[in-house]
Amino acid sequence: MSEPAIRPLLAGRRALVTGASSGIGFAVARTLAEAGAAVAVNYHSSREPAEKLVEEIRAAGGKAVAIGADVSEEAEAVRLVNETVAEFGGLDLLVSNSGIQKDAKLGEMTLKDWQAVIAVNLTGQFLCCREAVRAFRAGPDRPGHARASIVCMSSVHEIIPWAGHVNYAASKGGIHMMMQTLAQELAPERIRVNAVAPGAIRTPINKEAWGTDEALEKLLRLIPYGRIGEPADVARAVTWLLSDEAEYVTGTTLFVDGGMSLYPGFVDNG
Ligand code: BGC
Repeated sequence: MSEPAIRPLLAGRRALVTGASSGIGFAVARTLAEAGAAVAVNYHSSREPAEKLVEEIRAAGGKAVAIGADVSEEAEAVRLVNETVAEFGGLDLLVSNSGIQKDAKLGEMTLKDWQAVIAVNLTGQFLCCREAVRAFRAGPDRPGHARASIVCMSSVHEIIPWAGHVNYAASKGGIHMMMQTLAQELAPERIRVNAVAPGAIRTPINKEAWGTDEALEKLLRLIPYGRIGEPADVARAVTWLLSDEAEYVTGTTLFVDGGMSLYPGFVDNG
């Protein structure tokens, strides 16, 4: 018998993935379902791909639901978690993933675009973490194991400064400290909080960086591993961090970046 791609690491667990209608969130939701979790697939404006993914998961015998919500709005984040709990009878896992870019050099960046990125990427993660933790606390204790687990989607730009993207880089720097602070605060309740920091992953958010041969060649100079990342690379890391295989791991950022954060400019002696 052939081995399943991923062992059912998350059997019986109930997960919410925000921003799951495309890109990394989509791959994460699909992989968590393959690993046995019931998955709430959150989307903001793209309902169709979220519904399709839910159909696919159900057709394969899994449990899933699509829930539309703007995570940057408090009432919507509250409703999102409440609807997930109502659907699955509880919540054990959160992948706080929704993120946007609105790029401009400092002189041209509007306050609106600064605030929009901070609202989704940082405040949205705060709201979802808060609501998820409230739901976790209502759930059962799991003696000998973490009771619940959160993965915050960060970026290599939590440590790599990024000219022309100050709103985005600031949001991800904020995620780093938010994640570690929550990990410290929640560890006594055996709620684990970690982050995954992707590098350049082939998704719609950065199509400009890989969409042409020329752009890709330039991008690959920043990636010692010699290839762009795929959403599945990130999804596997998230699945592991959420699972009991990562029991005792909390407050950590796992870089999934093919070495992008390793100062590739120094590869030839600097
Ligand atoms: C950004 C991408 C970018 C990558 C590496 C990600 O966090 O969303 O646009 O390609 O970092 O720079």
